[in-house]
Amino acid sequence: MNMKLFDVYPLQPVTIVRAHGAYVWGDDGTRYLDMYGGHAVISIGHTHPHWVKRIEQQLETLAFYSNSVHLPIQEELADLLLKVTEKKDYQLFLCNSGAEANENALKLASFHTGRKKIIAFRQSFHGRTSLAVAVTDNPTILAPVNAIDHVIFLPFNDEQALEDCFKQHADSIAAVIVEGIQGVGGIRVAGDAFLQSIRHHCHLHGAVMIADAVQCGYGRTGQFFSHDHAGISADIYTMAKGMGNGFPVGGLLIAPNIKPRHGMLGTTFGGNPLACAAALAVLEVMQQENLMQNAATIGAYLFNHLSAIPEWQAVRGRGLMIGFDLPPAFANLKNTLLTNAHVFTGEAKPATIRLLPPLSLTQEQADSFLHKLQHAIENNMHSFTQ
Ligand SMILES: Cc1ncc(COP(=O)(O)O)c(C=O)c1O
Repeated sequence: MNMKLFDVYPLQPVTIVRAHGAYVWGDDGTRYLDMYGGHAVISIGHTHPHWVKRIEQQLETLAFYSNSVHLPIQEELADLLLKVTEKKDYQLFLCNSGAEANENALKLASFHTGRKKIIAFRQSFHGRTSLAVAVTDNPTILAPVNAIDHVIFLPFNDEQALEDCFKQHADSIAAVIVEGIQGVGGIRVAGDAFLQSIRHHCHLHGAVMIADAVQCGYGRTGQFFSHDHAGISADIYTMAKGMGNGFPVGGLLIAPNIKPRHGMLGTTFGGNPLACAAALAVLEVMQQENLMQNAATIGAYLFNHLSAIPEWQAVRGRGLMIGFDLPPAFANLKNTLLTNAHVFTGEAKPATIRLLPPLSLTQEQADSFLHKLQHAIENNMHSFTQ
């Protein structure tokens, strides 16, 4: 164990030294197919040449200045983001991570409504900072100091429970925060009717609907925000992961009726020119290479093939955000795929495989994954029956 690093991560037995597109390379030269995307972060592909060039050019021009001056690249990013998301008149606040985006969104909702009760859902994950972790349904990562008594956890996808809660607490709810697809919770898709019901009740009672699109957003499901599939507009969208393709950047898209005032939110590093350059490069490549459409097409292809595998139960997801549950005989599949088939995948406890590859995944790469998976299943069955 390396005593210099605070040991909080269970590490995979691989040292990554290089990456390109949908592949990463270990220090022994082994090439791995990255079906995990570094935890849904790699959107346009590792070290995409346009992304590298744009960051390099920005680095040579202006790497940093504080938010006390006008930084035109922030407006350039806001313009393109509003165009791509079709969230006309929304306002952009930039920060550095998903937790920070949710922290600011919840704080903003409370400022806006003057209220403090928040509705969140079972199996949610919203980050590890104080409010973000308080609305996360995982007591093991909640420090005593983070425990607050104004969060109400409701069952996910339960419209009746939502309605009852709003009836009971009517005008004291500041916000409802919901992932369009629960990621850490095991790839659980929020039903369209459920999201529409949240929209309806928030509207009716003056609460703020916060769409956590940190993992499920940025084109991954074939729509810019996975919440878009329900045909609704949230009051605030939170974004991070895919936004910078690995460059740390997060943000909030905020509906026009939520008014800012000086000092309300703030950050030193949020919206720095390098992060904006990275985020602009991501959107430009998404447009040039039609990556949202690709995520929808290749995602559907993978989904259909995975659903046809008799061993898998309950294949779930949308676009390139797919999960399936492993029967006990396959408990070790993630490690087998990594060590024997050289494929990175993600997981969710207790036994779900999560696929979160770059949105640029090709048909050949999807086929290669399916082939390796089939092989791993056959080997697994073979060793299990021996
Ligand atoms: C849905 C969701 N929200 C928020 C976060 C927190 O993001 P970050 O790790 O960038 O703070 C995550 C991270 O996995 C997430 O999946």
